[in-house]
Amino acid sequence: MLIIAHRGASGYAPENTLAAMDLAMEQGCDGIEIDVQLTKDGVVVVHHDWSVDRTTNGSGEIKDLTWKEIQKLDAGFWFSEEFTGEKVPTLDDVLKHLPKTLLLNVEVKSRSFDDRGLEKKVVELLEKHHRLENTVVSSFNHLCLQRIQLMNPQVKIGILYEAHLLEPCNYFKANDLNLYSFHPCHYYLTPDLVKKVQDNGMKIYSWTINDGERGKNLKALGIDGIITNYPDMLR
Ligand code: G3P
Ligand code: CA
Repeated sequence: MLIIAHRGASGYAPENTLAAMDLAMEQGCDGIEIDVQLTKDGVVVVHHDWSVDRTTNGSGEIKDLTWKEIQKLDAGFWFSEEFTGEKVPTLDDVLKHLPKTLLLNVEVKSRSFDDRGLEKKVVELLEKHHRLENTVVSSFNHLCLQRIQLMNPQVKIGILYEAHLLEPCNYFKANDLNLYSFHPCHYYLTPDLVKKVQDNGMKIYSWTINDGERGKNLKALGIDGIITNYPDMLR
């Protein structure tokens, strides 16, 4: 079972920063999950919330801020003084920084009213960095995933969801999606789901598990990967 660090080792360092990713690697993670969005001027940045208010010293939504404005923000101090000066990285920065052997899970954060081509930029960056092999692109917005697959069928895609799907394997078949992985919230995991997904040749990566006992249960269930804020503890 792979240990995938959620926004880096975000239990110990400010989420989605290079410091959190470095710490996750030091802690022996197998992969790193990050979130990406588009700035006002179309730069792909690594950030979870729509707004920068909670995790930086700035305010406003990513989509309304330019890269120049975001670049100036401190993305570490809110977590602890030790991380003062950490920056919001771009996806390009992360792709330069992480070893290509490490599994990277890029979660595309996209709302349907903001249709400015984030998917295309993500695909172009992955191609530019020769990062198709060990990368999975996931999203709660399944339309994005479909678009990505049409742009480049070599990109591995994973559906994120937070629900019990009645017929999970028929869902992607009916929608002509060639999925690499299922990413359900762990509340909705059942032995039947794990079996069906794996019998259909796909992986199952679940989130967000920050409890060791729950981690052991899910290992016994046979899932392929666990997404956690505490990679060392889950290891
Ligand atoms: O990719 C799993 C998980 O990160 C999805 O939820 O809200 O933490 O991005 P969220
Ligand atoms: Ca995420």
